[in-house]
Amino acid sequence: MAGSTLEIKDLHVEIEGTEILKGVNLTINSGEFHAVMGPNGTGKSTLASAIMGHPHYEITQGSVTLNGEDVLEMEVDERAKAGLFLAMQYPSEVSGVTTSDFLRSSINAQREEGDEIPLMQFIKEMDEALDYLEIDKNMAQRYLNEGFSGGEKKRNEILQLLMLKPEIGILDEIDSGLDIDALKIVAKGINKLRDENFGCLIITHYQRLLNYITPDKVHVMMNGRVVKSGGPELAQRLEAEGYDWIKKELGIEDESVEQKA
Ligand SMILES: Nc1ncnc2c1ncn2[C@@H]1O[C@H](COP(=O)(O)OP(=O)(O)OP(=O)(O)O)[C@@H](O)[C@H]1O
Ligand SMILES: [Mg+2]
Repeated sequence: MAGSTLEIKDLHVEIEGTEILKGVNLTINSGEFHAVMGPNGTGKSTLASAIMGHPHYEITQGSVTLNGEDVLEMEVDERAKAGLFLAMQYPSEVSGVTTSDFLRSSINAQREEGDEIPLMQFIKEMDEALDYLEIDKNMAQRYLNEGFSGGEKKRNEILQLLMLKPEIGILDEIDSGLDIDALKIVAKGINKLRDENFGCLIITHYQRLLNYITPDKVHVMMNGRVVKSGGPELAQRLEAEGYDWIKKELGIEDESVEQKA
């Protein structure tokens, strides 16, 4: 199915009574890679969690739609079924559920009842994805993320991404804690999905990931909103010069969300 669009309009989000997101606007079409950058504590992870329906986050204003359908009205599992995928900044450990079982039930949750993925096909696809990402086959039989190193967790998120083939992926600091070789492998995994059926929002602090995954657009968040957007050259300038020039340009003194801009 070509042509998915995730549209975030004037999104306001509160956590325990404090407004963190203050009107985020962002549209991601399948076929596009968007990078979201910004100083610490400016609302990037909050945006990802709110889109995926984390219960702590209260949407007080605005909308999120996928192909015109209201994402915020969907249960979390319905969001996944609709084609959204979130790789969290800190993936949680799930004791008692192997990576393999988790993948299989996630795939089946996206399919209709009675149309579960045949076991042999699942194993074949998983083996291919493990090979592609150079993940040891034994990892699939370990409990999900339990005792995984930081880099192993990130690679495991990309394993899920490859196998679930969402329409829109949101990847929060997928590059954090990766060694140079792992960074290339993770980028290779993301690029594998690059086609007209897949769009991606990549939250990152560093240009080095964007050396391998060229974004179509780069957005900067400050004060809980997107304050500047541009092409790949924007990320390069940030790498070279930091954020001060944007703050000066926009008259922002304190970029954190606590501050009223
Ligand atoms: N559950 C929570 N309770 C209270 N405050 C929160 C909660 N979650 C987030 N915040 C606050 O919201 C602000 C934005 O946090 P968020 O995690 O979205 O930032 P970020 O842009 O992802 O930062 P980083 O680059 O460090 O990952 C921070 O000041 C954070 O302390
Ligand atoms: Mg974050």
